[in-house]
Amino acid sequence: MSLVLSIANQKGGVGKTTTAINLASSLAELGKKILLIDLDYQANATTCMGINRGSFDKSVFDCFTREAKCEDILINTKNEKIDVLPARSLVEGIEEKLILDSNRDFILHAMLGDMKEHYDFVLIDCPPSLGYITTNALMASDGVIIPVQCEFLAMDGLTQLLNTIRLIQTKKKVNRETLTIYGVLLTMLDVRVTSGYQVVNEIKTYFNEKVFQTIIPRNITCSNATFYGVPVTVFSPKSKSSIGYKKLAKEVISRNE
Ligand SMILES: Nc1ncnc2c1ncn2[C@@H]1O[C@H](COP(=O)(O)OP(=O)(O)O)[C@@H](O)[C@H]1O
Ligand SMILES: [Mg+2]
Repeated sequence: MSLVLSIANQKGGVGKTTTAINLASSLAELGKKILLIDLDYQANATTCMGINRGSFDKSVFDCFTREAKCEDILINTKNEKIDVLPARSLVEGIEEKLILDSNRDFILHAMLGDMKEHYDFVLIDCPPSLGYITTNALMASDGVIIPVQCEFLAMDGLTQLLNTIRLIQTKKKVNRETLTIYGVLLTMLDVRVTSGYQVVNEIKTYFNEKVFQTIIPRNITCSNATFYGVPVTVFSPKSKSSIGYKKLAKEVISRNE
C-alpha cells in the first residue's frame, strides 16, 4: 500500500520544496520507492532533482487540463528509486481553466489512480497558495506534512490552512477516505538564537504530538545544494540538515507502521 503525503503551507519560503526533495531522497536511501509530484509553477523540486527544464515537453499541469497522461510525463531520475511528475513555469490561466471543470477537485486523485501503487510513498510539493492545485493535492492525499519555519510569525496563516484541511476532510469522508495531519515539521531553526526556540515551544503547545521530534536546523549547505540540482542529503550527506532529513524519514516511516 502506498502512502500519499502532501507537503503544504500557503506561506512561501517555509521549506516545503526542500522537505519534499530531501524526504524523497532520504526515504529512497532507506529502500523506499518514491513518486515526487511537483505542483509548484516555480518548478523548484523538478530542478532540484536534476531534471533539466528543457528535457520535457509536458508537465503535470497538462495532466490537470487533460492534455497529457501521468504515464507520459513521468520522469525517472538518476536515483532509480525516485520518479518525478515534473512542473513547468509558464503555465498561465490554469486555475481559470479548472473553474470550468466540474470535477476540478478530484483531477489529481483520479490521475494517480493505479499509478500510486507502484510506490511506497507519493510526496506532493504544494504551491504557496490554497487554490485548486493545493485542494487537488490534499484531496489525493492520505496525510499532510506542514513545514513551519522557526521564525517570527510562524503561526501566521496556519488557521487558514487548518480550515482548508478540515473542509477537505469533510469532503473526503463522503468517499470513506481520510486526510490526517501526518506531522508538523519545524524547519530552519537557528540554534544560536533563542527566538527560534520560542517558536518551537509555541508550535508544540498548539500541535502537541503532531509535531515531528526531528527539527531541521538552518544550515547554509542546504541552500547551496539547490544550485547543484541535488538534494542536500546527496550533496553533503553529513551536513546538519542532511542528518535532520534522514532522521525525519525514519520518523515518517514509523508513523506509518
Ligand atoms: N534547513 C535550511 N537551512 C538553510 N536554508 C534552507 C533550509 N531549508 C530551506 N532553505 C532555503 O530557504 C529557501 C526557501 O525554502 P523552500 O524549500 O524553497 O521553501 P518553500 O518551498 O516553502 O517556498 C530556499 O532558498 C532554501 O534553499
Ligand atoms: Mg516551494
